[in-house]
Formats: sequence, C-alpha cells, structure tokens
Amino acid sequence: MKAISVIGSGTMGNGIAHVFAQHGYHVSLVDISAAQLEKAITTISKNMDRQVSKGTLSESEKVSALARIITFTSLEDGVKNADLVVEAATENMSLKLDIFRQLDQFAPSSAILASNTSSISITKIAAVTKRPSQVIGMHFMNPVPVMKLVEVIRGYATSDEVTEIIMDLSRNLSKEPVEVNDYPGFVANRILMPMINEAIYTLYEGVAGVSEIDTVMKLGMAHPMGPLQLADFIGLDVCLSILRVLHDGFGNPKYAPCPLLVNMVEAGFKGVKTGEGFYQYTPGSKDLVVSPRFSK
Ligand code: CAA
Repeated sequence: MKAISVIGSGTMGNGIAHVFAQHGYHVSLVDISAAQLEKAITTISKNMDRQVSKGTLSESEKVSALARIITFTSLEDGVKNADLVVEAATENMSLKLDIFRQLDQFAPSSAILASNTSSISITKIAAVTKRPSQVIGMHFMNPVPVMKLVEVIRGYATSDEVTEIIMDLSRNLSKEPVEVNDYPGFVANRILMPMINEAIYTLYEGVAGVSEIDTVMKLGMAHPMGPLQLADFIGLDVCLSILRVLHDGFGNPKYAPCPLLVNMVEAGFKGVKTGEGFYQYTPGSKDLVVSPRFSK
C-alpha cells in the first residue's frame, strides 16, 4: 500500500494528507477547487513547521513529505493509480454517494475505498459501489496530526482482510485504530454529540453560562476543551447534522437537537469557521471570548 488518494482538501483532508505524507506515503490530494488545494498545501506546510519547531520533524523530513503530495482538480486523474482512497469531502450524503460512484469507476478495482465520514452509514456508501467488501470507514479526529485515534468502521459487507489492512495502516501512521461496527454515530459521535447537546441544553435552560459549563468539564473532567468550545471547533452545523443522524437512525427523542443549536445554525453562527458560536473568534488571537449574546 503506497499510493494514497485523499478526496477533499479542507481541514480533515489536508490533515489526512499531512499524516500520510509524513509517514512516507505518496499522496494525491484531490479537490474541485485549485485555490482550496493551494490553501491546503500552505496549511500543511505551516502545521509541519509547528512540528519542526518542536523538534518532532526535521526540516529535511518536512521538505520530503511536502514533495510526496501532488494535487489534482480531476478526480479521475487523482485516483487512477490509488491503492487506497480516503474520501474527506463535505459531510453531505448525496455528495458522498456521488463521489463513491465515481471512485468505483475510476480507481483500480483492487483499491480500498475509505470514507472519513463522521456519521454517514458506511453500509449505504458501500452499496453504491461494485466492491462493498472493499469499502470501510477511516474516521480521523481533528486536528489530525495531533489526535491519536482512528475509528475504523466496518460496513455490513466489509471484509476481514480489508479491515486488517486498514488497522495495520493506521498503526503505520502512529495512530491507535479502534474497530467498530456501522451503526448511527459509530462510537465517537454516539457518545460525544449527546454530551455536547446536553451542554447546550444546560446553557439554554439557564443552569449556567458558557464559560461556567466549559470550566466544569475542563477542570472537573480534565477535558482539553469544554463541550461548548469543542462544538464551536467541530462546527455547530456539523454537530447538528450528526445529532439528526442519531435522532433519525435510532428514532429516540433523547437525541433531539437542542432548539438553541438549531437556531444558531440557521442564523449562520456556526462556531470557529464563521467567527462566532458560543465564543467569538478573532484571526491570530488565542483568547477565548464568550459571545456577547451569552455574556451576562
Ligand atoms: N497540526 C499539527 N500540530 C498541531 C495542530 C495541527 N493542526 N494543532 C495543534 N497542534 C499541536 C501544537 O503544535 C501543540 O504541540 P505541542 O504539544 O508539541 O506543543 C499541540 O498540538 C497543542 O496545541 P496548542 O498548544 O496550539 O493548543 P492546545 O494545547 O490548546 O491544544 C488541541 C489544542 C490539540 C486542539 C486541544 O485543545 C484538544 O485536544 N482539543 C480537543 C480536540 C478534540 O476533541 N478533537 C476531536 C473533535 S471530534 C472530531 O474530530 C470528529 C468528529 O467526527 C466530529
């Protein structure tokens, strides 16, 4: 397994390309937008600089890793020699199904097709291809170069052999893979999203303010970020769409998204990416400032 194609060069895609290239794999990074690809390479280079300044990567390793990444705006060209494709496009069902139909057509028949989806059914994605036993979930966590976990999701038809290959490959990336079955939210988001939703309900019902809720979880439970800051970091629209997958998939009202979350997303307050969610974000500043909408 040498040639990896990564589809989508946003936050997750560029992090995945970074980690594969750093560990010696040749990466074809594919995106429909040439400008987005250029931005992704700049981001990868900056994130590798952090590692260089910490001494965890040498300057020459950085240069060789960057040279192993080639960018493509054509999906057909970007996957035609792939041993493994990791799809990290926008979390949208019809877009993903369309991409997998094309991957099935253009990637070599021996290639494994993986999705970094955070909640869309791997079984459903696999069903639009002629190789469902070679389709699997490879769910990285943000920031990809930092977080050790890869949640490896077996679809209903994923073979043992393909699962083993992806578990071993994840270890080669210095990650800790965990094998899980394909049910709504898998494991990570089935547990994380109800916690975030409950934190939003706690705010909505006036039990405590934004920084109080986050401080309880940071200092009381040793979480690196409180749940409201983490929701902003993940994207409130992404949190809402995962909660809807859980709610629809299990039909259980305990997963119903908090109306405050729904309102914030509808109003365009989606967290870090829009500059405001529970907190306000200023580019270049690391200060955590509670949004005036929630300050007392
Ligand atoms: N690339 C490379 N290195 C990075 C990086 C990146 N994108 N982002 C941060 N780092 C490195 C920093 O250089 C720093 O390195 P050292 O420890 O060697 O100094 C380290 O990570 C910590 O970064 P910072 O000092 O900038 O900031 P921090 O201490 O506040 O940590 C954080 C930042 C790692 C993001 C930490 O706050 C954290 O772990 N937060 C929780 C993240 C989390 O839960 N992620 C999962 C989200 S859920 C998901 O992704 C899946 C889903 O389906 C929704």
